[in-house]
Amino acid sequence: MPEPIVIVEDLKVYFYTYAGVVRAVDGVSFEIYEGETFCIVGETGCGKSVTSRALTKLIDPPGRIAGGKVLFKDRSGRYINMLELDEETLREMRGKEIAYIFQDPAAALDPLYTIGYHFIETMRDHGTIRSNKEGIERAIELLREVAMPAPEVRVKNYPHELSGGMKQRAVIGIGLSNMPRLLIADEPTSYLDVSVQAQILELLRQLKEKRGLTLLMITHDMGVVAEMCDRVAVLYAGHLAEIGPVDRIFMNPLHPYTQALLRAVPNPTRRMLKLEPIPGNVPNLASPPPGCRFHPRCPYAMDICKRERPKMIEVEERHRVACWLYAKR
Ligand SMILES: Nc1ncnc2c1ncn2[C@@H]1O[C@H](COP(=O)(O)OP(=O)(O)OP(=O)(O)O)[C@@H](O)[C@H]1O
Ligand code: SF4
Ligand SMILES: [Mg+2]
Repeated sequence: MPEPIVIVEDLKVYFYTYAGVVRAVDGVSFEIYEGETFCIVGETGCGKSVTSRALTKLIDPPGRIAGGKVLFKDRSGRYINMLELDEETLREMRGKEIAYIFQDPAAALDPLYTIGYHFIETMRDHGTIRSNKEGIERAIELLREVAMPAPEVRVKNYPHELSGGMKQRAVIGIGLSNMPRLLIADEPTSYLDVSVQAQILELLRQLKEKRGLTLLMITHDMGVVAEMCDRVAVLYAGHLAEIGPVDRIFMNPLHPYTQALLRAVPNPTRRMLKLEPIPGNVPNLASPPPGCRFHPRCPYAMDICKRERPKMIEVEERHRVACWLYAKR
Protein backbone atom coordinates (compact mmCIF):
# COMPACT_ATOMS: atom_id res chain seq x y z
CA MET A 1 0.00 0.00 0.00
CA PRO A 2 1.52 3.36 -1.00
CA GLU A 3 1.99 6.01 1.65
CA PRO A 4 0.22 9.36 1.59
CA ILE A 5 2.09 12.15 -0.20
CA VAL A 6 -0.29 14.67 1.39
CA ILE A 7 -2.16 14.49 4.69
CA VAL A 8 -4.65 17.29 5.31
CA GLU A 9 -5.83 17.61 8.90
CA ASP A 10 -8.73 19.80 9.98
CA LEU A 11 -7.99 22.47 7.35
CA LYS A 12 -9.82 25.76 7.76
CA VAL A 13 -9.73 28.62 5.25
CA TYR A 14 -11.80 31.68 6.06
CA PHE A 15 -12.38 34.91 4.14
CA TYR A 16 -12.70 37.97 6.35
CA THR A 17 -15.10 40.13 4.32
CA TYR A 18 -17.26 43.17 5.14
CA ALA A 19 -20.27 40.88 4.98
CA GLY A 20 -18.77 38.66 7.67
CA VAL A 21 -16.43 35.70 7.95
CA VAL A 22 -16.91 33.30 5.03
CA ARG A 23 -16.05 29.80 6.26
CA ALA A 24 -15.14 28.47 2.82
CA VAL A 25 -13.27 25.40 4.05
CA ASP A 26 -14.18 24.48 7.58
CA GLY A 27 -12.41 21.55 9.15
CA VAL A 28 -11.61 19.29 6.20
CA SER A 29 -9.36 16.22 6.52
CA PHE A 30 -8.19 13.77 3.85
CA GLU A 31 -5.09 12.14 2.50
CA ILE A 32 -3.73 11.69 -1.02
CA TYR A 33 -1.73 8.52 -1.66
CA GLU A 34 1.41 8.48 -3.80
CA GLY A 35 0.67 7.54 -7.40
CA GLU A 36 -3.10 7.79 -7.23
CA THR A 37 -5.57 10.08 -8.94
CA PHE A 38 -7.58 11.71 -6.21
CA CYS A 39 -10.66 13.76 -7.05
CA ILE A 40 -12.38 16.49 -5.12
CA VAL A 41 -15.92 16.89 -6.35
CA GLY A 42 -18.83 19.14 -5.42
CA GLU A 43 -21.12 21.91 -6.64
CA THR A 44 -19.88 25.41 -7.44
CA GLY A 45 -18.75 27.37 -4.39
CA CYS A 46 -18.28 24.32 -2.15
CA GLY A 47 -14.57 25.01 -1.58
CA LYS A 48 -12.78 22.78 -4.09
CA SER A 49 -10.42 25.44 -5.46
CA VAL A 50 -9.79 27.01 -2.08
CA THR A 51 -8.88 23.59 -0.63
CA SER A 52 -6.46 22.82 -3.44
CA ARG A 53 -4.83 26.24 -3.29
CA ALA A 54 -4.45 26.00 0.48
CA LEU A 55 -2.18 22.96 0.02
CA THR A 56 0.61 25.39 -0.90
CA LYS A 57 -0.83 28.38 0.97
CA LEU A 58 -1.92 30.07 -2.28
CA ILE A 59 -4.61 32.06 -0.47
CA ASP A 60 -4.83 35.80 -0.99
CA PRO A 61 -6.37 38.33 1.41
CA PRO A 62 -9.06 38.63 2.63
CA GLY A 63 -8.60 34.86 2.84
CA ARG A 64 -6.48 33.31 5.56
CA ILE A 65 -5.70 29.79 6.68
CA ALA A 66 -7.47 29.71 10.00
CA GLY A 67 -6.32 26.31 11.18
CA GLY A 68 -5.17 22.81 10.44
CA LYS A 69 -2.16 21.13 8.90
CA VAL A 70 -1.05 20.16 5.41
CA LEU A 71 1.66 17.51 5.72
CA PHE A 72 3.63 16.92 2.52
CA LYS A 73 6.03 14.00 2.16
CA ASP A 74 9.34 15.36 0.89
CA ARG A 75 11.81 13.43 -1.27
CA SER A 76 13.56 12.05 1.81
CA GLY A 77 10.28 10.63 3.13
CA ARG A 78 9.79 13.17 5.94
CA TYR A 79 6.48 14.96 6.36
CA ILE A 80 6.69 18.74 6.47
CA ASN A 81 3.82 21.04 7.39
CA MET A 82 3.36 23.28 4.36
CA LEU A 83 1.43 25.80 6.43
CA GLU A 84 4.52 26.53 8.55
CA LEU A 85 6.86 27.24 5.61
CA ASP A 86 7.98 30.74 4.66
CA GLU A 87 6.92 32.27 1.34
CA GLU A 88 10.33 31.71 -0.30
CA THR A 89 10.31 27.99 0.47
CA LEU A 90 6.71 27.73 -0.68
CA ARG A 91 7.58 29.40 -3.99
CA GLU A 92 10.32 26.84 -4.43
CA MET A 93 7.90 24.00 -3.63
CA ARG A 94 5.28 25.31 -6.07
CA GLY A 95 6.47 24.03 -9.40
CA LYS A 96 9.26 21.80 -8.17
CA GLU A 97 7.18 19.56 -5.92
CA ILE A 98 3.57 20.58 -6.54
CA ALA A 99 2.38 22.10 -9.83
CA TYR A 100 -1.01 23.59 -10.65
CA ILE A 101 -3.04 23.62 -13.84
CA PHE A 102 -6.05 25.90 -13.75
CA GLN A 103 -9.20 25.89 -15.82
CA ASP A 104 -8.45 28.81 -18.11
CA PRO A 105 -5.24 28.17 -20.07
CA ALA A 106 -5.40 31.63 -21.67
CA ALA A 107 -5.18 33.28 -18.25
CA ALA A 108 -2.13 31.19 -17.37
CA LEU A 109 -0.17 32.48 -20.38
CA ASP A 110 1.11 36.03 -20.84
CA PRO A 111 0.04 37.24 -24.32
CA LEU A 112 3.26 39.25 -24.67
CA TYR A 113 5.60 36.27 -24.47
CA THR A 114 6.21 33.21 -26.63
CA ILE A 115 5.42 29.71 -25.38
CA GLY A 116 9.15 28.98 -25.23
CA TYR A 117 9.74 32.00 -23.01
CA HIS A 118 7.13 30.74 -20.52
CA PHE A 119 9.03 27.44 -20.25
CA ILE A 120 12.37 29.20 -19.84
CA GLU A 121 11.06 31.51 -17.14
CA THR A 122 9.53 28.67 -15.13
CA MET A 123 12.61 26.47 -15.35
CA ARG A 124 15.04 29.33 -14.66
CA ASP A 125 13.12 30.30 -11.51
CA HIS A 126 13.73 26.82 -10.14
CA GLY A 127 17.31 26.41 -11.42
CA THR A 128 16.29 23.53 -13.70
CA ILE A 129 18.19 24.95 -16.71
CA ARG A 130 21.51 26.77 -17.13
CA SER A 131 20.89 28.61 -20.40
CA ASN A 132 18.08 29.79 -22.68
CA LYS A 133 19.31 27.35 -25.34
CA GLU A 134 18.89 24.46 -22.92
CA GLY A 135 15.49 25.90 -21.96
CA ILE A 136 14.25 25.86 -25.56
CA GLU A 137 15.53 22.32 -26.08
CA ARG A 138 13.73 21.16 -22.92
CA ALA A 139 10.60 23.09 -23.96
CA ILE A 140 10.48 21.28 -27.32
CA GLU A 141 10.91 17.92 -25.57
CA LEU A 142 8.13 18.76 -23.12
CA LEU A 143 5.82 19.99 -25.89
CA ARG A 144 6.43 16.71 -27.66
CA GLU A 145 5.61 14.84 -24.45
CA VAL A 146 2.24 16.65 -24.22
CA ALA A 147 1.56 15.72 -27.88
CA MET A 148 1.72 19.27 -29.21
CA PRO A 149 1.77 19.19 -33.01
CA ALA A 150 4.95 20.69 -34.54
CA PRO A 151 6.64 21.54 -31.23
CA GLU A 152 9.62 23.26 -32.92
CA VAL A 153 7.18 25.75 -34.47
CA ARG A 154 4.87 26.11 -31.48
CA VAL A 155 7.71 26.94 -29.11
CA LYS A 156 8.17 30.20 -31.05
CA ASN A 157 4.44 31.03 -31.13
CA TYR A 158 2.60 33.53 -28.99
CA PRO A 159 -0.39 32.25 -27.00
CA HIS A 160 -2.96 33.76 -29.41
CA GLU A 161 -1.54 31.62 -32.22
CA LEU A 162 -2.62 28.43 -30.39
CA SER A 163 -6.08 26.86 -30.09
CA GLY A 164 -7.62 26.38 -26.63
CA GLY A 165 -6.58 22.72 -26.50
CA MET A 166 -3.02 23.55 -27.60
CA LYS A 167 -2.79 26.26 -24.95
CA GLN A 168 -3.82 23.76 -22.28
CA ARG A 169 -1.23 21.28 -23.59
CA ALA A 170 1.41 24.02 -23.33
CA VAL A 171 0.29 24.90 -19.78
CA ILE A 172 0.51 21.22 -18.77
CA GLY A 173 4.00 21.00 -20.31
CA ILE A 174 5.08 24.13 -18.40
CA GLY A 175 3.59 22.65 -15.21
CA LEU A 176 5.67 19.51 -15.66
CA SER A 177 8.90 21.31 -16.58
CA ASN A 178 10.39 21.20 -13.08
CA MET A 179 9.48 17.54 -12.50
CA PRO A 180 6.84 17.99 -9.78
CA ARG A 181 5.61 14.92 -7.90
CA LEU A 182 2.07 16.16 -7.34
CA LEU A 183 0.03 17.73 -10.14
CA ILE A 184 -3.11 19.62 -9.17
CA ALA A 185 -5.53 20.09 -12.05
CA ASP A 186 -8.40 22.43 -11.15
CA GLU A 187 -11.21 21.88 -13.70
CA PRO A 188 -8.56 21.60 -16.46
CA THR A 189 -11.07 21.01 -19.23
CA SER A 190 -13.99 23.25 -18.35
CA TYR A 191 -12.97 26.03 -20.79
CA LEU A 192 -12.40 23.61 -23.67
CA ASP A 193 -14.66 22.22 -26.38
CA VAL A 194 -16.19 18.85 -25.58
CA SER A 195 -14.12 17.10 -28.24
CA VAL A 196 -10.88 18.50 -26.80
CA GLN A 197 -11.85 17.76 -23.19
CA ALA A 198 -11.50 14.01 -23.65
CA GLN A 199 -8.07 14.43 -25.28
CA ILE A 200 -6.75 16.52 -22.39
CA LEU A 201 -8.05 14.02 -19.82
CA GLU A 202 -6.39 11.21 -21.77
CA LEU A 203 -3.15 13.20 -21.87
CA LEU A 204 -3.22 13.70 -18.08
CA ARG A 205 -3.82 9.98 -17.60
CA GLN A 206 -0.87 9.06 -19.82
CA LEU A 207 1.48 11.60 -18.23
CA LYS A 208 0.57 10.37 -14.77
CA GLU A 209 1.41 6.77 -15.70
CA LYS A 210 4.60 7.63 -17.54
CA ARG A 211 5.99 9.94 -14.88
CA GLY A 212 4.60 8.18 -11.82
CA LEU A 213 2.86 11.38 -10.78
CA THR A 214 0.22 11.79 -8.14
CA LEU A 215 -2.76 13.65 -9.57
CA LEU A 216 -5.29 15.77 -7.69
CA MET A 217 -8.25 16.46 -9.97
CA ILE A 218 -10.83 19.08 -9.09
CA THR A 219 -14.12 18.75 -10.88
CA HIS A 220 -17.86 19.18 -10.54
CA ASP A 221 -18.41 16.46 -13.14
CA MET A 222 -19.13 12.94 -11.86
CA GLY A 223 -18.39 11.65 -15.38
CA VAL A 224 -14.79 12.91 -15.06
CA VAL A 225 -14.59 11.29 -11.61
CA ALA A 226 -15.70 7.95 -13.02
CA GLU A 227 -13.19 8.13 -15.90
CA MET A 228 -10.15 9.40 -14.06
CA CYS A 229 -10.11 8.77 -10.36
CA ASP A 230 -9.01 6.12 -7.90
CA ARG A 231 -10.46 7.79 -4.83
CA VAL A 232 -12.84 10.67 -4.42
CA ALA A 233 -13.71 13.23 -1.77
CA VAL A 234 -17.15 14.85 -1.91
CA LEU A 235 -17.21 18.39 -0.53
CA TYR A 236 -20.36 20.18 0.47
CA ALA A 237 -20.35 23.81 1.60
CA GLY A 238 -16.83 23.66 3.00
CA HIS A 239 -17.33 20.34 4.80
CA LEU A 240 -16.24 16.90 3.68
CA ALA A 241 -19.36 14.79 3.14
CA GLU A 242 -17.86 11.50 2.00
CA ILE A 243 -14.57 9.97 0.91
CA GLY A 244 -13.71 6.59 -0.55
CA PRO A 245 -12.56 4.49 -3.49
CA VAL A 246 -14.33 5.57 -6.65
CA ASP A 247 -16.06 2.22 -7.27
CA ARG A 248 -17.48 2.22 -3.73
CA ILE A 249 -18.73 5.81 -4.08
CA PHE A 250 -20.55 4.91 -7.31
CA MET A 251 -21.81 1.48 -6.17
CA ASN A 252 -22.68 2.43 -2.63
CA PRO A 253 -22.97 6.20 -2.18
CA LEU A 254 -23.65 6.80 1.51
CA HIS A 255 -24.18 10.52 1.94
CA PRO A 256 -27.54 11.88 0.76
CA TYR A 257 -25.62 14.64 -1.04
CA THR A 258 -23.46 12.13 -2.94
CA GLN A 259 -26.60 10.20 -3.81
CA ALA A 260 -28.15 13.41 -5.17
CA LEU A 261 -25.01 14.27 -7.17
CA LEU A 262 -25.07 10.83 -8.77
CA ARG A 263 -28.75 11.15 -9.64
CA ALA A 264 -27.81 14.38 -11.43
CA VAL A 265 -25.33 12.54 -13.69
CA PRO A 266 -26.72 11.81 -17.14
CA ASN A 267 -27.16 8.07 -17.32
CA PRO A 268 -26.63 6.61 -20.81
CA THR A 269 -29.40 4.06 -20.25
CA ARG A 270 -31.91 6.80 -19.34
CA ARG A 271 -30.72 9.28 -21.93
CA MET A 272 -34.16 10.64 -22.64
CA LEU A 273 -34.88 11.48 -19.02
CA LYS A 274 -34.28 14.94 -17.68
CA LEU A 275 -31.35 15.49 -15.33
CA GLU A 276 -32.49 15.61 -11.75
CA PRO A 277 -31.36 18.87 -10.20
CA ILE A 278 -30.63 18.88 -6.49
CA PRO A 279 -33.40 20.92 -4.84
CA GLY A 280 -32.29 24.02 -2.96
CA ASN A 281 -29.07 26.01 -3.12
CA VAL A 282 -25.58 25.84 -1.68
CA PRO A 283 -25.80 27.83 1.57
CA ASN A 284 -24.20 31.21 2.11
CA LEU A 285 -20.93 30.37 3.82
CA ALA A 286 -20.94 33.61 5.82
CA SER A 287 -23.89 32.22 7.77
CA PRO A 288 -24.00 28.49 7.06
CA PRO A 289 -26.76 26.35 8.58
CA PRO A 290 -25.77 24.85 11.95
CA GLY A 291 -25.12 21.14 12.36
CA CYS A 292 -24.95 19.30 9.06
CA ARG A 293 -24.70 22.00 6.40
CA PHE A 294 -26.75 19.86 4.03
CA HIS A 295 -29.77 19.61 6.33
CA PRO A 296 -31.95 22.26 4.60
CA ARG A 297 -31.74 20.20 1.38
CA CYS A 298 -31.69 16.72 2.86
CA PRO A 299 -34.80 14.55 2.57
CA TYR A 300 -33.67 12.51 5.61
CA ALA A 301 -32.83 15.39 7.96
CA MET A 302 -33.47 14.65 11.64
CA ASP A 303 -33.45 16.92 14.68
CA ILE A 304 -29.85 16.14 15.55
CA CYS A 305 -28.77 17.12 11.99
CA LYS A 306 -29.90 20.69 12.66
CA ARG A 307 -27.91 20.93 15.90
CA GLU A 308 -24.71 18.91 15.67
CA ARG A 309 -22.16 18.47 12.95
CA PRO A 310 -21.83 14.75 12.12
CA LYS A 311 -18.38 13.21 12.61
CA MET A 312 -16.62 11.21 9.90
CA ILE A 313 -17.13 7.50 10.38
CA GLU A 314 -15.76 4.56 8.42
CA VAL A 315 -18.67 2.49 7.12
CA GLU A 316 -16.70 0.07 4.98
CA GLU A 317 -12.98 -0.28 4.34
CA ARG A 318 -11.47 3.13 3.45
CA HIS A 319 -14.99 4.51 2.83
CA ARG A 320 -15.96 7.25 5.28
CA VAL A 321 -19.02 9.46 5.57
CA ALA A 322 -20.11 12.38 7.74
CA CYS A 323 -23.83 11.77 8.24
CA TRP A 324 -25.98 11.05 11.28
CA LEU A 325 -27.78 8.26 9.41
CA TYR A 326 -24.71 6.06 9.93
CA ALA A 327 -23.84 6.99 13.50
CA LYS A 328 -24.38 4.27 16.10
CA ARG A 329 -26.50 5.81 18.77
N1 LIG B 1 -11.79 36.25 -2.39
C1 LIG B 1 -12.86 35.75 -1.77
N2 LIG B 1 -13.61 36.50 -0.93
C2 LIG B 1 -14.67 35.97 -0.28
N3 LIG B 1 -15.08 34.71 -0.38
C3 LIG B 1 -14.40 33.92 -1.21
C4 LIG B 1 -13.26 34.38 -1.95
N4 LIG B 1 -12.79 33.35 -2.70
C5 LIG B 1 -13.60 32.31 -2.42
N5 LIG B 1 -14.55 32.64 -1.53
C6 LIG B 1 -15.61 31.76 -0.99
O1 LIG B 1 -15.11 30.46 -0.88
C7 LIG B 1 -16.08 29.53 -1.31
C8 LIG B 1 -15.38 28.41 -2.03
O2 LIG B 1 -14.85 28.89 -3.24
P1 LIG B 1 -14.11 27.94 -4.28
O3 LIG B 1 -13.53 28.81 -5.31
O4 LIG B 1 -13.18 27.03 -3.55
O5 LIG B 1 -15.33 27.09 -4.85
P2 LIG B 1 -15.27 25.91 -5.92
O6 LIG B 1 -15.80 24.70 -5.24
O7 LIG B 1 -13.92 25.83 -6.51
O8 LIG B 1 -16.35 26.39 -6.98
P3 LIG B 1 -16.33 26.34 -8.61
O9 LIG B 1 -16.83 24.97 -8.97
O10 LIG B 1 -17.27 27.41 -9.00
O11 LIG B 1 -14.94 26.59 -9.07
C9 LIG B 1 -17.05 30.28 -2.18
O12 LIG B 1 -18.35 29.92 -1.82
C10 LIG B 1 -16.82 31.73 -1.88
O13 LIG B 1 -17.89 32.22 -1.14
S1 SF4 C 1 -26.47 14.34 8.73
FE1 SF4 C 1 -28.68 14.47 8.55
S2 SF4 C 1 -29.06 16.26 7.23
FE2 SF4 C 1 -26.92 15.67 7.01
S3 SF4 C 1 -26.91 14.37 5.25
FE3 SF4 C 1 -27.07 13.03 7.03
S4 SF4 C 1 -29.27 12.76 7.32
FE4 SF4 C 1 -29.03 14.47 5.92
MG1 LIG D 1 -13.16 26.24 -8.40
